[in-house]
Amino acid sequence: MNVPRHVAVIMDGNGRWARARGKARHAGHRAGVKSVRATVEIAAERGVDYLTLFAFSSENWRRPEHEVSSLRNLFLEALRREVEELHRNNVRLCFIGAREQLNAGLIKKIEAAEARTADNTGLTLNVAVAYGGRWDIVSACKKLALRVEGGELQSGDIDEQLISAELQLAQVPDPDLLIRTGGEQRVSNFLLWNLAYAELWFTDVLWPEFDKEEFDRALEHFSNKQRRYGHTGEQVEAAEC
Ligand code: FPP
Repeated sequence: MNVPRHVAVIMDGNGRWARARGKARHAGHRAGVKSVRATVEIAAERGVDYLTLFAFSSENWRRPEHEVSSLRNLFLEALRREVEELHRNNVRLCFIGAREQLNAGLIKKIEAAEARTADNTGLTLNVAVAYGGRWDIVSACKKLALRVEGGELQSGDIDEQLISAELQLAQVPDPDLLIRTGGEQRVSNFLLWNLAYAELWFTDVLWPEFDKEEFDRALEHFSNKQRRYGHTGEQVEAAEC
């Protein structure tokens, strides 16, 4: 089986899962943490090298204040409870996004978790918080513009490599597979640049019900795809011989 090196996930459907059970949205997010744990485990078991989860988007700031603050508390609690276990399992934890927008206590915990797991060599778990794909590209452009202003770079030298090198996931190969739960079929401003050639897998399963079987279904779908990167199928087959 051809296992994707990098899997990105849009975890959608927590609110609907809770509503269907007559519970508050917060209960859905809490149940979603269990799916995060199961997904990290199965990704590591299957030999995925990078897992990138969309936990909180730039747009999620627009949610009611009580939901934003309950998500913040849930992230803090998850960090407190899970980091040692992740560390024992050789997982390296990294956060991407506009972390300066987060509350100081959460930034401190994020930085401590990154430092604690920095030397681990197993699965890299990237958690996107206060992240937006357009924000990521704009930030990269600003960094390059500063280098042009400083005389270190000519504007004509700017190419795809230079932009990629300034993105949040600069050190990480592009996602091979994007999974989105919850029935919607859109990218929602996640990793816009990096997803250029990703295979897309959409499932109606709501995030709190996403499990190892569903992850394997997505891997199976990926494994059956031929990735052409603009070539013809015949060219790809000839190169594989
Ligand atoms: C989308 O469901 C989910 C989120 C915006 C939050 C995701 C957070 C978690 C799964 C919990 C913690 C994560 C980590 C990494 C510890 P929704 O609220 O948009 O659902 P709906 O579309 O059904 O309303």
